[in-house]
Amino acid sequence: MSDWRNRIFCEDALVGMARIPDASVDLILTDPPYNLGKDYGNDSDKLAADDYLRWTQTWIDAALPKLKPNGSLYIFLTWRYAPEIFVMLKQRMTMANEIIWDRRVPSMGGSTRRYSSVHDTIGFFVNAKDYYFDLDAIRIAYDAATKKARSRSIFVGAKWLEVGYNPKDVWSVSRLHREHAEREDHPTQKPLEIIDRMIKASCPPGGMVFDPFMGSGTTAVSAQRCGREFVGFELNPAYCEMIHQRLQIATPEPSAVLIE
Ligand SMILES: C[S@@+](CC[C@H](N)C(=O)[O-])C[C@H]1O[C@@H](n2cnc3c(N)ncnc32)[C@H](O)[C@@H]1O
Repeated sequence: MSDWRNRIFCEDALVGMARIPDASVDLILTDPPYNLGKDYGNDSDKLAADDYLRWTQTWIDAALPKLKPNGSLYIFLTWRYAPEIFVMLKQRMTMANEIIWDRRVPSMGGSTRRYSSVHDTIGFFVNAKDYYFDLDAIRIAYDAATKKARSRSIFVGAKWLEVGYNPKDVWSVSRLHREHAEREDHPTQKPLEIIDRMIKASCPPGGMVFDPFMGSGTTAVSAQRCGREFVGFELNPAYCEMIHQRLQIATPEPSAVLIE
């Protein structure tokens, strides 16, 4: 169990999780298949609803013991299964937030018999009251217009104006398009901007981030560039190679070793 750090294992997370010692991970940050029928080169997103929820309960049961007592978890979901999966997690952890990721979908066409869905639902869960959370690392700078509007003497030197504001629970960040430099050939790649915020807030520098479902490797790339360690799994060998390439580009030193 000694060589699991900073590695992506190209295998089923449910098989591979035994590699990770219990209570060794600061943050589980994951974006599992949503069961919407996407093609990941496997059937993981095409299960019957009951099978999907049973599988979800199984991986949650296997993953949560890996967290440290003051660890946290972020999980990307959609409205379709978030209610059931949040209930599963609330049996074992405390829910700190529901974060809405507004994907900034342009207003063109859309659903005609219901409202167009333009957000993902993210659950933020914590293990204990003393969970790690570095607010200063993720404050958002006020824009120039706001700073100017607060230029009266009573505001000069105001700490809140200088340090920026606390992020809210609606995050408006464009989904990745072909023209974005970070875009890879993966159907549900998440923006680094979002993952960076979660890691900086909820994993201490040098700490360990675990993502059982790496996809194109966004969690690993973000952990590496934020100075954290990572470990994860991905079923599709082509995505494993993609992650390897991304990590090579992100740092001159080879940092991830793939299992054949
Ligand atoms: C929603 S995607 C993750 C996308 C990722 N967050 C990104 O930014 O690229 C889910 C991934 O989980 C992988 N997957 C599905 N079942 C798996 C399993 N049992 N073990 C490991 N990976 C799995 C799929 O192949 C898919 O690439």
